[in-house]
Amino acid sequence: MKAAVVTDFAQPPHYGEFPEPVAGRDGVVVEVLAAGLHPRVRSQAGGFHYTSTGELPLVPGVDAVVRDPKGQIRYAVLDDTTMGSMAERTVIELGRSVALPDTIDPVVIAAAMNPAMSSWVALRRRIDFGGHQRVLILGATGNAGRMAIQVAKRFGAAEVIAAGRDAAKLAELPALGADRTLTFAELAQAAEVDVVIDYLWGEPTAKAMVDLLTHRSDRGKPLTWIELGAIAGPVAALPAAALRSARLQIVGSGIGAVPGADFVKELPALAEAVAQGAFDVRAQAVPLAQVAEAWASTGASDRIVLVP
Ligand SMILES: NC(=O)c1ccc[n+]([C@@H]2O[C@H](COP(=O)([O-])OP(=O)(O)OC[C@H]3O[C@@H](n4cnc5c(N)ncnc54)[C@H](OP(=O)(O)O)[C@@H]3O)[C@@H](O)[C@H]2O)c1
Repeated sequence: MKAAVVTDFAQPPHYGEFPEPVAGRDGVVVEVLAAGLHPRVRSQAGGFHYTSTGELPLVPGVDAVVRDPKGQIRYAVLDDTTMGSMAERTVIELGRSVALPDTIDPVVIAAAMNPAMSSWVALRRRIDFGGHQRVLILGATGNAGRMAIQVAKRFGAAEVIAAGRDAAKLAELPALGADRTLTFAELAQAAEVDVVIDYLWGEPTAKAMVDLLTHRSDRGKPLTWIELGAIAGPVAALPAAALRSARLQIVGSGIGAVPGADFVKELPALAEAVAQGAFDVRAQAVPLAQVAEAWASTGASDRIVLVP
């Protein structure tokens, strides 16, 4: 069958032949309708995600909208194996999928679920988010950040402050529900927030943390910092004194920090919300045959979705 195939972690996937998937004990072979090219998939295909086993060749793709053998359309998350979702067919576990109505647009679902799941699961499963808290989103102009604005509002946040580096993209965010937007240079103005949803890490996070903590009027007031992505760097140098001088709690949210079963439990409600059009979703469908060109297109704001 045709698939996106990685034979060398230093090269982008190419469109080529890959052996037909085998169902195995718990799996079922399904037809892939749409698979999102998320940052997580780039790190999988590059061999640098923390779950990478280093095994090649592999088909990348960590989730997909599929049609099962009974004709049911599903959204499925996949294990990290060499048989990912960017292929004509793949293997899923039915227990790690959710059935969807025939009326959904597979491309929209495939684009939205991974970025939306990050903040949805973090606020539902990783921290005690009762709503009425003030939330700052670092990296709010990306797909996950844009979703986080909408998710935090949906869960009752008292205020959502969206921070990013691109002024033109920031200007679009009030339409999604952001109460305020800030550049990274202005983060002292967000010093009173209760929760930070952080997709950046690296140098911007280290600077942001100091800016917030040093400008906080009451340093005894809890601040929960949720680490969700490291798009600006894998390491952040945090000054010890800043941590000691405020009631800061840093937690991560991802597979491992949250049990896989808890992610799966959140799939139906999130998929239903996406299917009902609750979120503004930016998606660009690209034929699977153009996977190499899609990989080269890193600056696009819309989430690329490969369609076999
Ligand atoms: N833990 C989880 O459950 C989970 C789930 C989904 C995603 N994630 C992670 O979340 C991160 C964001 O994903 P995404 O889907 O939003 O990606 P995306 O759509 O590509 O957006 C990337 C965002 O990061 C910003 N950015 C990139 N490099 C930067 C830098 N050097 N300094 C400051 N900002 C920078 C971009 O700003 P511009 O708009 O200005 O380019 C944009 O806002 C990724 O690391 C991804 O792996 C985690």
